[in-house]
Amino acid sequence: MSDTVLKLENITKFFPGIKALDGVHLNIRPGEVHALIGENGAGKSTLVKILTGVHLPTSGRVIYKGQDVSFKTAIEAQDAGITAIHQEASMFPELSVTENIYMGHHLKGGKFGALSWRQMRKKTAALLERMELDINPDTLVKNLGVAQRHMVEIAKALSIDADVVIMDEPTSALTLREVEDLYKIVRQLKKAGKAIIFISHKFDEIFEICDYFTVLRDGKYIGEGLVAEHSIDDMVTMMVGRSLDQMYPKSEAGIGDEILNVDNLSSDGVFRNISFNLHKGEILGFFGLVGAGRTEVMRAIFGIDKITSGNITLRGKKYHPHSAGDAMKQQIAYVPEDRQTQGVILEMSIARNITLPQIESLSRGGIINSKAEREVTVEYGSMMEIKAAGWQVDADTLSGGNQQKVVLAKWLATKPQILILDEPTKGIDVATKAAVHRFVSNLAAEGLAVIMVSSELPEVLGMSDRIIVMHEGEMTAEFSRDDADSDRIILAATGHRTAAGGNQ
Ligand SMILES: Nc1ncnc2c1ncn2[C@@H]1O[C@H](COP(=O)(O)OP(=O)(O)OP(=O)(O)O)[C@@H](O)[C@H]1O
Ligand SMILES: [Mg+2]
Repeated sequence: MSDTVLKLENITKFFPGIKALDGVHLNIRPGEVHALIGENGAGKSTLVKILTGVHLPTSGRVIYKGQDVSFKTAIEAQDAGITAIHQEASMFPELSVTENIYMGHHLKGGKFGALSWRQMRKKTAALLERMELDINPDTLVKNLGVAQRHMVEIAKALSIDADVVIMDEPTSALTLREVEDLYKIVRQLKKAGKAIIFISHKFDEIFEICDYFTVLRDGKYIGEGLVAEHSIDDMVTMMVGRSLDQMYPKSEAGIGDEILNVDNLSSDGVFRNISFNLHKGEILGFFGLVGAGRTEVMRAIFGIDKITSGNITLRGKKYHPHSAGDAMKQQIAYVPEDRQTQGVILEMSIARNITLPQIESLSRGGIINSKAEREVTVEYGSMMEIKAAGWQVDADTLSGGNQQKVVLAKWLATKPQILILDEPTKGIDVATKAAVHRFVSNLAAEGLAVIMVSSELPEVLGMSDRIIVMHEGEMTAEFSRDDADSDRIILAATGHRTAAGGNQ
């Protein structure tokens, strides 16, 4: 095809013990948004890393603008006009926004080729303004929120005038408004004739902004097509190899006694007057837009953040945790939202990650009983269908979604009585998502009390017995499973109390 800007032929990539890519083909055209889809560990990010000089392919051809290329560094790829927003954060927290954006492609000015910070700062400010971001170019990245940090990564990719822009799950950390901004940017790039590769596990995104798609499964090319000519079912069948019957398999179960009661809980400047209770066997959904304060409430219950007023009663007794250790002693488990920084220790094995919270009970005289460690790992690792070369490999060799599964396995293995899940299926593929849902639902049926924070409405609606909605640090509504409908929930999430009709 003459209009192809980037073409992959028969790309294969081996890592020790694993064939990450196996004869992959891909045709990328200018002015087109090309979705790359497939399950966790299918090879999507590996392909991105080959295109951007992070990894070399074991064999196969990369043909860019009609010529065979082999990028050995990210800078080489950038200079050629290929840039990427990677799945994992690649910012330097101690540097400013400007420094991060121009890292690796500094602007030089003056006679002696000195760096021109003034110019870089000016260009950064203009870029941030064009993206309608209210961020100061001099702010240190460590002082930005997750969503803002992600937008800066996107700004960095755009600061390079590239012909191919690759986005690896770009929306996973963004708020609703920023997602809209990103769509706008993608459409602008498309209009300017750029080629965009877009990786996502969210079908609404794929149908919203992608024109074309290619499916990978187990490192193999499965097929491709026009988005407009295919259904979600078609894509799922290609990704998983079969069709999925049920996305939110909620088992009906009796709700038991109250286990947790939160009364008028406040944390100065963060959330106010939060009151709810939780029963054994119940799944309590917490919906809200990113930034509504749900995570902060959960962190307070888990003893990480401070409570300024209000009471928590646990199993009928006053509970005031001062640390996560206090919460864990009470058999509360918390799966954090930001798993890359809080959840998984990348330079530790999968087995050690999964057993970390129970390391004391698995050890005698400071020595870990490796048989016991293995048993726990195999049980929970298999349950979560973690795809890896073995349980002893470091977590940093896992795909993004599989790292998340490790964190889920780790907390489930502590056999908690109260399980708090913060965005449990973010970045997790469609089949595993259904597996996680089925699993949580079964545990609840056995009496586990679950709080599930999620920004995915179908997930909250499909899984919860009761739904609490938050907006800007306050509860705006509470719905029973039967009363909940998406319009009313969204109204409440945008701050409309009256529309909620709950028990406020
Ligand atoms: N540096 C590495 N060393 C060893 N194995 C690796 C490395 N990077 C990736 N892999 C393996 O290659 C396979 C493909 O991983 P990749 O990250 O490309 O998946 P992905 O499709 O991006 O998945 P996800 O949707 O979870 O992000 C996985 O089995 C992963 O464990
Ligand atoms: Mg990936």
